[in-house]
Amino acid sequence: MESKQMRRIGVFTSGGDAPGMNAAVRSVVRTALHMGIECVGIRRGYYGLINCDIIPLDFESVSGISRQGGTMLYSARSEEFYQPKGREKAVSTCKLLGIDGLVGIGGDGTFRGLLELSKLGVSVVGIPGTIDNDISCSTYTIGFDTACNTAQDSIDKLRDTMQSHERCSVVEVMGRHAGHLALYVGVACGATAVVIPEQDINYEHDLMEPIRRARLNGRTHFMVIVAEGVEGGAYHVAEEIRNTTALDTRVTILGHVQRGGSPSSRDRVTATHMGYEAVELLAKGMTNRVICLQGDQYVNYDIAEALAMRKSLDPQTYTVMRALTGMEQVKLKEELL
Ligand code: F6P
Repeated sequence: MESKQMRRIGVFTSGGDAPGMNAAVRSVVRTALHMGIECVGIRRGYYGLINCDIIPLDFESVSGISRQGGTMLYSARSEEFYQPKGREKAVSTCKLLGIDGLVGIGGDGTFRGLLELSKLGVSVVGIPGTIDNDISCSTYTIGFDTACNTAQDSIDKLRDTMQSHERCSVVEVMGRHAGHLALYVGVACGATAVVIPEQDINYEHDLMEPIRRARLNGRTHFMVIVAEGVEGGAYHVAEEIRNTTALDTRVTILGHVQRGGSPSSRDRVTATHMGYEAVELLAKGMTNRVICLQGDQYVNYDIAEALAMRKSLDPQTYTVMRALTGMEQVKLKEELL
């Protein structure tokens, strides 16, 4: 495909890292080169854009990075970019380096930054990368599958010792504002109950009853998955269980380990497609877009429209989780849908 005045593009990663970001960077670089466009890596997100923290990227420099977790471009949060002066500096860097277009890989915060830059005349495209899977316009975000697998491995191990000691395990998985990870991991691990911020928790119905029913069916250990965004987190949930049931209850916070590790095939392939799509849009002269996955189709949305969308939990997975845990069907919180 012929590129329209796009001679050099910059690529950066921003916000919380996610497995698969490197595969997206590799794809952006190699797609650009394929289309006759040069590529520059901007390190440390918007901070690097303001401070001209760059590395040249060529075919060889991105070789072998798809299988690596983290991001070779580093990630950071920049207070300065929130100020108009910081954003002007970022635009100056683009002018100085002759960067005609930018690809930013990250979450909502990254896209808000891209939107601001587009208002200042920079061509921009965003790629959703976050283990939270909470980008509204896309059914999938890079890193989610790997994070689910990492959490699942840990929980399977935990189950061994919980079973031996006949305990109740309360595991907190990441998800600052969203329960997607908790829901999927709960289904994958056959949890006794799943507690997510999208759902008003009734401790008696949603937690104690499933535990009791499992005990009446002969189970002597229990696995409760809690999303980080739930008020009080896992410690609060564990306290409620302990006080009501007197079960020997242990809390495990999986934490940042969920953001690491070699990306799964799904994350590598999705990231590679998204990187390709992003460069193709810039080469076509398009700007202010975010690449999304809808079913098995790669589509793109205007960034402002994308940011205004709201994402609900996958209703089928939610229904299946409630059915298999024995939790009663309850309505999800409207304001979070
Ligand atoms: O947004 C991704 C995420 O991993 C959230 O799940 C989590 O709440 C947050 O980032 C943690 O951010 P930090 O790495 O800054 O502690």
